[in-house]
Amino acid sequence: MAAAPEIQTVNITINGVELAVPKGELVVEAAKRLDVEIPIFCYHDRMKPVGMCRMCLVEAGSKGPDGTVRMMPKPQAACTLPSSEGLIINTDTPKIHTDRRSVLEMLLVNHPLDCPICDRGGECPLQNNTLFYGPSTSRFVELKRHAPKAFPLSKHVVLDLERCIQCGRCVRFTEEISGDGQLAFRFRGASMQPSTFELTEFDSKFSGNVIEICPVGALTSAHYRFRARPWDLETKPAVCLECSNGCNIWLDYRVGKVVRINGRANEAVNEEWTCDRGKFGHDYYNSESRLSQVLIRRNDRLEPSDWPAAFQAIAEAFKSGEVAALVGPQNSNEDLFGLRELFTDVLGSKNFDYRMTRDLSPRPAKRAATSIQALEHAPVIVVFGTSLADELPIVYLRVRKAWMKHAARVVVVSSQPTDVDSFAHLVLRFEPGKEAEAVKALTGDAAASKAAGFGADAAAEAASLAKGAAIVCAESIYDMPGAAGLVESLTSLGDFNLYATGGNDQGAHELGLVPGSGGKDTRAILEGCAKGAIKALWLVGTDPLGSYPDKDLAQRALEGVPFLVYQGHSHAEAAHYASVVLPQNAPAECDGTYTNCEGRVQRMRSILTPPGHAKPGWKIFGELAIRLKPSAPPFHASDVMDRIAAGVPGFEHARYAELAEGGHVLHGHPAGEPVGLES
Ligand code: SF4
Ligand code: SF4
Ligand code: FES
Repeated sequence: MAAAPEIQTVNITINGVELAVPKGELVVEAAKRLDVEIPIFCYHDRMKPVGMCRMCLVEAGSKGPDGTVRMMPKPQAACTLPSSEGLIINTDTPKIHTDRRSVLEMLLVNHPLDCPICDRGGECPLQNNTLFYGPSTSRFVELKRHAPKAFPLSKHVVLDLERCIQCGRCVRFTEEISGDGQLAFRFRGASMQPSTFELTEFDSKFSGNVIEICPVGALTSAHYRFRARPWDLETKPAVCLECSNGCNIWLDYRVGKVVRINGRANEAVNEEWTCDRGKFGHDYYNSESRLSQVLIRRNDRLEPSDWPAAFQAIAEAFKSGEVAALVGPQNSNEDLFGLRELFTDVLGSKNFDYRMTRDLSPRPAKRAATSIQALEHAPVIVVFGTSLADELPIVYLRVRKAWMKHAARVVVVSSQPTDVDSFAHLVLRFEPGKEAEAVKALTGDAAASKAAGFGADAAAEAASLAKGAAIVCAESIYDMPGAAGLVESLTSLGDFNLYATGGNDQGAHELGLVPGSGGKDTRAILEGCAKGAIKALWLVGTDPLGSYPDKDLAQRALEGVPFLVYQGHSHAEAAHYASVVLPQNAPAECDGTYTNCEGRVQRMRSILTPPGHAKPGWKIFGELAIRLKPSAPPFHASDVMDRIAAGVPGFEHARYAELAEGGHVLHGHPAGEPVGLES
């Protein structure tokens, strides 16, 4: 292992306390080491400092070799001042108190008195700083600046210009973090406004983050506006399952209804960011289409019923003949394990699958060689065949950070333009159908590179960069022709990462929710249903009419199968064909764990009350299992995890008592570890 680079330190003094800090560390950060607060607005520790607001003023000076102290005549911005040997900082002097009051008075000159109706009221840095450091009254009696209120920057973000303190955080976010550069300042002086070019739609895939980092209520959420005040919200930690990144989030709810999602810091996963799909995509919790009642088909109509009647009907239908199950991406590890146990141990069937891609060949068993965090330090990253910003938005942000902060060279090989192209060192574009040639070109095959339509020089450079690089692709590669061969070739290039795309698809992979030998895969299951060979099908949080690429086959399957169970938290088209409909808890309505694309098992606690009859998936499978084959049922999700930990390699340390708040990575990430195939 390479030795960690030595950190050079310098001795500084803050408020009379001497300490050693890394050379160059910004004073605003160094002060945190002593728990000394320096108030800020424009500074954000994940973006470059700009010194725009002057809220962080401190007195600065230095100690000469003879011990004499010389203070600078004017205060300095702590967010742009690097630590150097002998630096002396005072943050708590009458002069600094006066300066802070003046800065706040200046900011409030044009700030409207909106606090009672502002979404930010109660959690606003401007309110807090004014309370702690500001003037208690205003000397300003003139008319304030006025600007249009509630201007819709996009369908998600609303701008209230009067409240803007021109800190530039939102603009810098789109330049430095999301990289779409959609916001900029126009005009100057008191008229300066953050805006899109010519007021076009702010359609960044990460726009919701600017709402959170705006230090005032200038940027608010179109969905949350006026729906709650911070003090009447309950806030709990949760995990986003809209894709397989598993971003850590805060779930805010009021009288049992989800009203807001904010990013929660987990350095290893999402730092503190979310994408718009995650931030604004949890409407299903409050949706009218939630399933709350057990339904059983009688006289060709789905009629309200109860769990005992449903279990009886399902037990009857599933106890003989060929049966199968298809599972969706938002089931917990416990749900998936419960289903697998029911099918293999009780029903004696291996017909189950989570995969909804065209190609269903076996996938590499260990498939995430590089953690999301480690991607940031990969010198070369090859992104093959995926639009990362759409499929794996947070992986996209890490790849961009690797380029932006650590000068990684990024090679894109895809048939479509992607957001990564904007910062890629090389872009190799191939026509759909030339995937095999494109991959061969990366192995240095000149003839294949010509056939793929790549320029000789670019292809040769890409091939040389790809050796030993972090290779990133998404599980959607299995929708490409010859996917198994593509994956095999990519595996041989470097540290191969085949990231799952659905919320807990990685969990389904780890827990073996793929047919074992003699079992049927998704296509064979649907064909068996269409022909009537499969007598009963259980859909667990999935609707093949929407998720399977061959919709015609999915339709024939649902029409042809004699008995169909649709289980889920929300209504779906497939439910129209069901013999029995079972309401399942949504993720934040029950305890459970989820495995993200890098194999990190993360805990979700029961936060909300499920509607009506809804139950956790593992409980539904357990209750049916004891009716068919008496055994000791699990009473809590942790009991199921204990069984998983005892029986599934990698999960040994994922028991609830052991699971760290930041999650547990199943197999670690030894880069270059040999990659095997599923049995
Ligand atoms: Fe700063 Fe908010 Fe104004 Fe953007 S809108 S410049 S984040 S105060
Ligand atoms: Fe949710 Fe994925 Fe977006 Fe993260 S990247 S917020 S997990 S949808
Ligand atoms: Fe330092 Fe704004 S926080 S100038």
